[in-house]
Amino acid sequence: MTFFTVRYAPGTVTLIDQTKLPTEETYVDLKTVEDVARAIETMIVRGAPAIGITAAYGMAVAARTGVPFEEADARLRRTRPTAVNLFWALDRMKAKWGDDTAGIEAEAQAIYDEEVAASEAMAKIGEEIIEDGASILTHCNAGALATAELGTALAVIRGAHRVKKKIRVFADETRPVLQGARLTAWELMRDGIDVTVVSDGAVAHLLATEQVDVAVTGADRIAANGDAANKIGTRGVACLFYHHGRPFYVAAPWSTVDMSLASGDEIEIEERNPEEVTHVRGQRIAPEGVKVRNPAFDVTPAKWINGIATERGLARPHLGRALERMAKK
Ligand code: MRU
Repeated sequence: MTFFTVRYAPGTVTLIDQTKLPTEETYVDLKTVEDVARAIETMIVRGAPAIGITAAYGMAVAARTGVPFEEADARLRRTRPTAVNLFWALDRMKAKWGDDTAGIEAEAQAIYDEEVAASEAMAKIGEEIIEDGASILTHCNAGALATAELGTALAVIRGAHRVKKKIRVFADETRPVLQGARLTAWELMRDGIDVTVVSDGAVAHLLATEQVDVAVTGADRIAANGDAANKIGTRGVACLFYHHGRPFYVAAPWSTVDMSLASGDEIEIEERNPEEVTHVRGQRIAPEGVKVRNPAFDVTPAKWINGIATERGLARPHLGRALERMAKK
């Protein structure tokens, strides 16, 4: 990789500022829990596994700077509700809080390292499930910018690319924050992977008029029955692939699976600032005073998902039963 998403040195979390990409590649150093929490809220860092890793490093900063556990933990838990990786990582840090600072920092680093290994496992699955010559649609950014390295959906894609399968990727732009157009396109171009940006509204037309073989997306939380929450718009993409009889895969580390929730109906969906919808890069595009809704995620039902790739293997339908078996691994 020619960039990094998140790094930790004692007392400092360094993040690539994703709000500035692709026009500026800049890094920010964060030295307080409040700065780390704000970076998650403002999406300087985003993507479920990267949020979890950053929060874990935030707790390492708390240990280094003497912030009481309850204060740091509560502040970080308030940042974003949907990605379960945040709560999973904070639970792990909580279990280590009795250790010395070095032990707490080592746990945060272990979370990072495990996410790297999970990405690698998803890339291996990609080597298998993506066919030579495939056209692949992805939504949002589930790449290195959303994890530690390689990504989740983009790890699957990178896996196929590195074994020299000839692939082509369509990245839909992903309104309103444009993670597809800004981040996925940037990452894949850097890797020399053939990528074409399309507007969100173009997906149905593409499926009707040309060969788009398969969709692969990430997830922010997967319920025990296989329902998967991901960036707003994913459900629409999955519905279209289902309608056209083409496979739709989800790739996510096991830290994204929430076996405590029976179905996607129980997943809390974050509502974000209406300005993300009414403005593009600071420029107003909707009339002042108009009513706005900005749900940041939606839930794709398990019945539209052909497989969930994790480091524990590829869950195939029946997804609920497959996840239950994998949970015992
Ligand atoms: O709001 P974001 O950008 O944090 O949402 C990100 C997504 O929905 C990703 O697809 C998901 O977190 C998976 S990242 C490997």
